[in-house]
Amino acid sequence: MPHRLFPGIDSPRSEPRVALHASHERLLTFTLSLLHVATLPDLAHPSAPVAAGRARRYFVEGLPLHTAYEDLSLAARLRVAVPESGPLLDELQRDHQQIDACLATLLPLLGALAEGRAVPATTFREAVRCLTDVLLPHIRREKNELVPLCCRLSVADGAAVASEMVERRSYPDRPAAA
Ligand SMILES: [Fe+2]
Ligand SMILES: [Fe+2]
Repeated sequence: MPHRLFPGIDSPRSEPRVALHASHERLLTFTLSLLHVATLPDLAHPSAPVAAGRARRYFVEGLPLHTAYEDLSLAARLRVAVPESGPLLDELQRDHQQIDACLATLLPLLGALAEGRAVPATTFREAVRCLTDVLLPHIRREKNELVPLCCRLSVADGAAVASEMVERRSYPDRPAAA
């Protein structure tokens, strides 16, 4: 029977894998666009402001929802359903904190680029590398190790993580429950 909230998805049980795949594709798209800007010979290139603005918006609005989905909805249930996943989930959560630390430096630079202001190329490239050095292996690890664990969640857990995601997207300013 189609999922009530996601008609294209067969079962709530398959939802976490589908949702993670879609989010990781989006995340990769914006990360690769940042890498592209970082390899431009001149950051004053006309394509830089638009790419920087789009990436900044995703990292400010989209990524926190994805991280909350993983840490608050998925990990919370996997820790109960698959207790041996604890060390992996701890490491992924630490990666999230490292990603946030890199973004604290990168986001103001993206904001400046988006507004057409000059940004030192070396500083920008270092900030992009700080992010991608953590983020790219992190996504690979989630694809290889986290996603396969999702099939061990119950139907009820799959439905609960889906409805929590919808709730967060509908009320992004509401404080997230731990
Ligand atoms: Fe993650
Ligand atoms: Fe992820």
